[in-house]
Amino acid sequence: MGRKVILDCDPGHDDAFAMMLAVQHLEVLGITTIGGNCTLENVTKNALKVLEVLGRTDIPVFAGHSCPMTVPLVTAPQFHGETGLDGPVLPEPAVKAQEKHAVDFIVETVMDTDDVTLIATGPLTNIAAAINREPRIVERVTELSIMGGSVTYGNWTPTAEFNIFVDPEAAYRVFNSGLHIKMSGLNLTRQCCLTGEHVKKFREIGTKAANLAADLTDFFIGATVKSAELTGANMHDACAVAWLIDPSLVKSAQMHIDIELKGDLTRGMTVCDYRHLRGVEPEIDLHREPQMAFRGEKPNAEAGLELDFPGFMELLYRTLTNYK
Ligand code: BDR
Ligand code: CA
Repeated sequence: MGRKVILDCDPGHDDAFAMMLAVQHLEVLGITTIGGNCTLENVTKNALKVLEVLGRTDIPVFAGHSCPMTVPLVTAPQFHGETGLDGPVLPEPAVKAQEKHAVDFIVETVMDTDDVTLIATGPLTNIAAAINREPRIVERVTELSIMGGSVTYGNWTPTAEFNIFVDPEAAYRVFNSGLHIKMSGLNLTRQCCLTGEHVKKFREIGTKAANLAADLTDFFIGATVKSAELTGANMHDACAVAWLIDPSLVKSAQMHIDIELKGDLTRGMTVCDYRHLRGVEPEIDLHREPQMAFRGEKPNAEAGLELDFPGFMELLYRTLTNYK
């Protein structure tokens, strides 16, 4: 069994793929939900529905915050439909979410269990709230793998990616908390683009999970082509999980990443110090290129840069085949 994780998500088509990978390859202690792609009520119901298809209703689901820390919730029906998981026809879940709040679950689990890794594939509201509630979790957590942000351009505004744009204050808290962050930003996840060929292969695999993957991808491709004029559907969130399962799938670089809160044009941007230029005390190192000299802000993140997409698909096909 892989590492112990808590998956915080807002399913969401690509969140469902993140769940499929995590549930089979990692020790998922719980799934926590956050208002994001759709309302908290819907994303929680969606998480329960996906777990039922995967035959893993033993994994508890905890609902978290319904909206961001300081601003109203923005949702993404143009990509995920009115339910947040349009496309597949799934029965109402037989199992309910737990009574406990997601933030309580995260804090208690991390304080009681060694070596927990957090994964976040929605807005970072629950993770920021957990750090605010119990700052010692930062020292206890192994690392946080997120889908969010971008080393290059955005998808919600020219500079901001959806998950960070929805709750920039939460993202700011998390990136400035001392947690080690693996960032699967858009620059990485755009390399994970599924088309009709992949849907065909899912249908050939034919397990319940593979059929769900096919129905989800079918809808997601249609919505993405219509709304974003892309050629396929990016399974953004699955990248943040695949990176933990097989680190050789992602090439990355350490850098300092901060969140822009004030810019009229750039609110929610992940400002990625790719070339280590920030900081007040330039360090003169004659043995290095001057512009590459490390100047002060220590890297707080590892940004994914290159995805081995064939390797990712192999992992996904294997995973869908193994679900009975
Ligand atoms: C992110 O936004 C959501 O719509 C997806 O689920 C993913 O987490 C991509 O920008
Ligand atoms: Ca998501």
